[in-house]
Amino acid sequence: MSKAERVDILIQALSDGEFHSGQSLGELMGVSRAAVWKYVKALTELGIQFESVPGKGYRVIGGIQLLDKKIIAESLSRNARQVFKDVFCFSEIDSTNQFLLDLSDSGKAAYSSVCVAERQTAGRGRRGRRWISPFAKNIYCSVLLRFNKPLVELEGLSLVVGLSILKALEEMSYSNIQLKWPNDLLHENKKLAGILLEVRGDLTDFCDVVIGFGINVNMALEDAREIDQAWTDLSSISSSSLDRNFLVASILNNLAVDIDEFEHRGFVSFQARWNEKDAYLSKEVVIVAGKDRLEGISKGVSETGALILQLGSEDRLFHGGEVSLRGVDATLD
Ligand code: BTN
Repeated sequence: MSKAERVDILIQALSDGEFHSGQSLGELMGVSRAAVWKYVKALTELGIQFESVPGKGYRVIGGIQLLDKKIIAESLSRNARQVFKDVFCFSEIDSTNQFLLDLSDSGKAAYSSVCVAERQTAGRGRRGRRWISPFAKNIYCSVLLRFNKPLVELEGLSLVVGLSILKALEEMSYSNIQLKWPNDLLHENKKLAGILLEVRGDLTDFCDVVIGFGINVNMALEDAREIDQAWTDLSSISSSSLDRNFLVASILNNLAVDIDEFEHRGFVSFQARWNEKDAYLSKEVVIVAGKDRLEGISKGVSETGALILQLGSEDRLFHGGEVSLRGVDATLD
């Protein structure tokens, strides 16, 4: 048994919040009681606080609600079950996006596949940023999809994903969530979630698209120190507790419906829905393209998902890959 497997067994055992003796944990993990202590102590590096009581053993007060592949799979709608054939669930991985890109490269992928992880050691965001991914606090999820279309026809896909996530959150009673073009979900102008699309394949004929999304659920302040923009999390928006498994499943259920619609009708059938949730509609914004800054009024998105910017008397379209948008007085990117 590897060290990582032992850590997984330990976390799984302690997740119920009950006391477990060093002896019983040692038996489960195949190590001595003394070694159990070292493993338990190392849990603090993952942000897991434990209690150790002589004669009783170890416990994690309140337990840890873990991601569970079985719960996710069982909570999928019939439709989503047909779309998402494989769900991979890791306690630690470099990046869920990278895992699915590698799976696509291997030629052995089932379409569509899903990957979730409790922690990412090299989680990535847009524009080469790191995506802070502490253990069991948030959602880090990626989906691998194959489209038998050239990449140019997929403009708008990441906007559709934003809508699917937003709908899932609304279904779970989170309100006042808005979208920021092209890829962010905001609550009161603070970033709640981000989406990163990465592609593989011929690109002129078919493509494999990995859609990764990170949702802040319960971000601890010490973990968030490195985040260089205004952020929020679901626990700050609502005091009701959340089982991340159900949110992941609900997003996948919405994605299954929306992606089918997108494939058949294109972005045009999402345009009005997107504009209704646009945090910057009719507001002054700055578009940053390399060293250039353009100030104008945001007029929402076009039929293909491009941003429409009013510059004086002229409207100009901007496409996702090339630019980023900011509110005139915000530091959001
Ligand atoms: C952004 O910069 O706003 C996009 C963030 C995307 C983060 C998610 S977390 C799951 C998936 N795996 C990654 O490495 N990144 C995406």
